[in-house]
Amino acid sequence: MGYTKLPFDSSYHSKSMKIAVPKERRSYECRVAIAPDTVKKYKALGYDVAVEAGAGTEASYTDDMYAAAGAQIVADTAVLLRDSDIVLKVQRPMSENEGRNEIGLIKPGAILIAMLNPYGARSDLDAYVHGNITAMSMELMPRITRAQAMDVLSSQSNLAGYRAVIDAAEQFGRAFPMMMTAAGTVPPARCMVMGAGVAGLQAIATARRLGAIVCATDVRPVAREQVESLGASFVMVESEETKQAETSGGYAKEMSDDYKRRQAALIAETIRKQDIVICTALIPGRAAPNLISEAMLKTMKPGSVIVDLAVEQGGNCALSEAGKVIDAYGVKIVGHRNVPSRIPVDASSLYSRNLLNFITSITIKGEGKLKLDLNDEILRAITLTHQGAVVHPQFLKN
Ligand code: NAI
Repeated sequence: MGYTKLPFDSSYHSKSMKIAVPKERRSYECRVAIAPDTVKKYKALGYDVAVEAGAGTEASYTDDMYAAAGAQIVADTAVLLRDSDIVLKVQRPMSENEGRNEIGLIKPGAILIAMLNPYGARSDLDAYVHGNITAMSMELMPRITRAQAMDVLSSQSNLAGYRAVIDAAEQFGRAFPMMMTAAGTVPPARCMVMGAGVAGLQAIATARRLGAIVCATDVRPVAREQVESLGASFVMVESEETKQAETSGGYAKEMSDDYKRRQAALIAETIRKQDIVICTALIPGRAAPNLISEAMLKTMKPGSVIVDLAVEQGGNCALSEAGKVIDAYGVKIVGHRNVPSRIPVDASSLYSRNLLNFITSITIKGEGKLKLDLNDEILRAITLTHQGAVVHPQFLKN
């Protein structure tokens, strides 16, 4: 691979390493990178743990719960970060030009582990290099069997898929299940799920549990079996092209214009009969596919609800707006940002487990120290910067 071997030896640490968890300060973020039960596990591995006061408040974890699990509670972010060796966060720390320089507070030589959004925030890598921070981006975790328990995209998308259906139910003026009452019969809601990946499959399961009649679409033919096993029907345009629609990593590719036209005809035919549409379709590294046009919206029943989970990547629905619930032609279009954060307790719990599983895998047992072999497949995939340089092949400057 032409990858430079850059060993990291933490044995110079005479004592165990200290893990710090600061409070998340970006808007729409209610999660926290550590749960009280994981504090105990880190302590058992030999680490010291410090948590910023109030870090877990929005996820219903109190300072007392962290303290009881063995964490030190620190009131000041700067004090917390200046003597910590490993910094765990949910979102990337703020940079100097955002008005609060969290990156600048991290101790030189420390390891930062979070969802760093390197494609969207490339300039942060320069700040990590400048601060001699080893930055690891959890979204880049390879989808290999060994890393499944560390896969933050899966754990968070799963909850987003669930929450999207709950958000739809909140906006929907009708019930989901069929109800036979003395006053008459309430018909079941019809729900369509666009994209049957991790979020889509959980949305299908949730809508089914609530009693809706569910159908789903995708461009990957393998999704059919998964959709049908959840009791939903599968609709898709099958063609020679869809045989190659999946990358080796299991992700979708961008489809041809001809395919898009045929898919649009299928969606137009299906969507006008639906009450709820949950949009989850994404193509890694590209804008989300535009699947619901304004013309299609006009054909939908008044009172229908669309929840667009892809809204922050441009949206699957032409009119969805990030951070807003809008009304277009009698259809409510829900574009909440950061949907996993709308279920912050479980999202924090699963995220903190993902981090714990990753850190456990690179810990020298019982010593509370890390051993980083950057030739390892996982570390190579997620490490952006190390020892004052960008090391990830995709982010090297020419
Ligand atoms: P994603 O979030 O990138 O995309 C969501 C879904 O949208 C995918 O199913 C994709 O095929 C679909 N999609 C893309 N373009 C579309 C279009 N034009 N029309 C309709 N649907 C479209 O994908 P996600 O949820 O991250 O999962 C992708 C795959 O990775 C799945 O096959 C999943 O089972 C697999 N996976 C494997 C893991 C592992 O081995 N560790 C862990 C998690 C997922």
